[in-house]
Amino acid sequence: LTLYLPKDAAALALGADDIAAALTAEAAARGIELRLVRTGSRGMVWLEPLLEIEQDGLRHGFGPLEVSDVKSLFESDFTDHAKALGPVEDIPFFARQTRLTFARCGVIDPLDLNAYRAHGGMAGLERARGMAPEQIVAEVTESGLRGRGGAGFPTGIKWNTVLQAEGPQKYIVCNADEGDSGTFADRMLMEGDPFCLIEGMAIAGLAVGATRGFVYCRSEYPHAIRTFGDALEMAREACLLSESFDIELRVGAGSYVCGEETALLNSMEGKRGTVRAKPPLPAHKGFMARPTVINNVISLASVPVILAEGAAHYKSFGLGRSLGTVPLQVAGNVKHGGLFEAAFGMTIGELIHDICGGTASGRPVKAVQIGGPLGAYFPVTLFDTPLGYEECDAAGGLIGHAGIVVFDDTADMGAMARFAMEFCAVESCGTCTPCRIGAVRGMETIDRILAGDPAAPAILADLCETMRDGSLCALGGFTPYPVESALKYFPEDFTPRQEAAE
Ligand code: NAI
Ligand code: SF4
Repeated sequence: LTLYLPKDAAALALGADDIAAALTAEAAARGIELRLVRTGSRGMVWLEPLLEIEQDGLRHGFGPLEVSDVKSLFESDFTDHAKALGPVEDIPFFARQTRLTFARCGVIDPLDLNAYRAHGGMAGLERARGMAPEQIVAEVTESGLRGRGGAGFPTGIKWNTVLQAEGPQKYIVCNADEGDSGTFADRMLMEGDPFCLIEGMAIAGLAVGATRGFVYCRSEYPHAIRTFGDALEMAREACLLSESFDIELRVGAGSYVCGEETALLNSMEGKRGTVRAKPPLPAHKGFMARPTVINNVISLASVPVILAEGAAHYKSFGLGRSLGTVPLQVAGNVKHGGLFEAAFGMTIGELIHDICGGTASGRPVKAVQIGGPLGAYFPVTLFDTPLGYEECDAAGGLIGHAGIVVFDDTADMGAMARFAMEFCAVESCGTCTPCRIGAVRGMETIDRILAGDPAAPAILADLCETMRDGSLCALGGFTPYPVESALKYFPEDFTPRQEAAE
């Protein structure tokens, strides 16, 4: 009997290891030989722990499982059990996805290199090995891939800058310091398909002439660190990594701003994680002042499928200048939250109402925050906005790393605006004044608005302009997004508290 059960952090948090132990014990008690394959997650978090069994060539799901379900599952012979969900790929949340980057996640054992190959892995690297660096860069440029970390800068153009740059040593740095609230795509990929990231980095190395790579992962991801570390060792044993290209895993120390590329480089060099002024760009003077490609996990993990299937295939998905697919991560007060990989262009409303089923509380949706703690709040009146870089920008926000946090009508947007300033004050690296001092003044000014001071709104507007235009990096520069969108769309949440109570 072969069963599949995730060992992704979300599934573990919901008791997957207890289910695994119960399955093993029950099979042993019945004299059944059990092969339990521990996979990554399919991304349907509300169904975790999601057990799967292959029947008639299809993977059938059971979930969300509890230990008390295990005995009856064996009694039902894994057929019409109360927790049976049918074929996993027919579950509407899954069936409506376009899985390119996450095609193997939740399907295979993340540390089984043979399974990785059998499911299309290594085809991209094998093709890249037969190409000139310029051809690889051209293919990635042609695909339209843009930085999935949030800024959306064209990956091929970034690679070309590094390819053209002179230097005795070049580096590939993968940014896995996924700090945005409500995001987990990088973690899921590293836990569920680590060889895909290794393959993407190896292709990047060939493309720009780099022989060393680094993955900088946040310390809050112990499972990703363990799985990716194991995958690195296996890749070395299989000669996938060698002297011609090797990867080292570095772990951060818990600072949000170390996700900013220059602070990340400082941290990797053993310095304080503060932001450097640009120029010079990391592409010219990055790690140890050498030409460096810095890309997010998802940008690099999207490269193998682009090389394997061709740029034309990848860019056949998407909308406008947002090409390919994006792993949308839906969290917060949502009924069916998780990771939904789709072509760019789906509207916010379709995703939140049709696919995710609205709020978990059953109350009306009030707003979604897109792009992390520095992203704008989108009210329901903007839910016809398509999820794309330019489209979100035109609506006054940003898609960022595609984290979407849902709030119901009980959310207090005045408190959320204050939280944005507080977050900025706590995480500020202190290099520039608009952020270091502005965020603290911002908290105080919002308090004055909430207390009914008529002079405070104009001061806040002025302060937001100064932070937006005068900050050195996106932390201070983007904090006005949540503050101003909350004020614009939910002015009633900024009325004096005593008045609201009357
Ligand atoms: P940016 O616009 O300054 O830079 C974009 C990227 O393009 C950088 O890597 C930069 O070095 C590179 N670049 C620019 N011109 C280039 C050229 N001519 N050649 C080669 N490379 C070039 O944006 P930044 O500050 O790096 O990122 C801001 C974004 O980060 C925000 O949009 C935000 O959404 C996102 N973010 C993501 C987080 C996450 O958890 N993934 C956390 C916080 C923010
Ligand atoms: Fe540091 Fe904030 Fe300035 Fe960014 S905006 S450099 S985090 S002080």
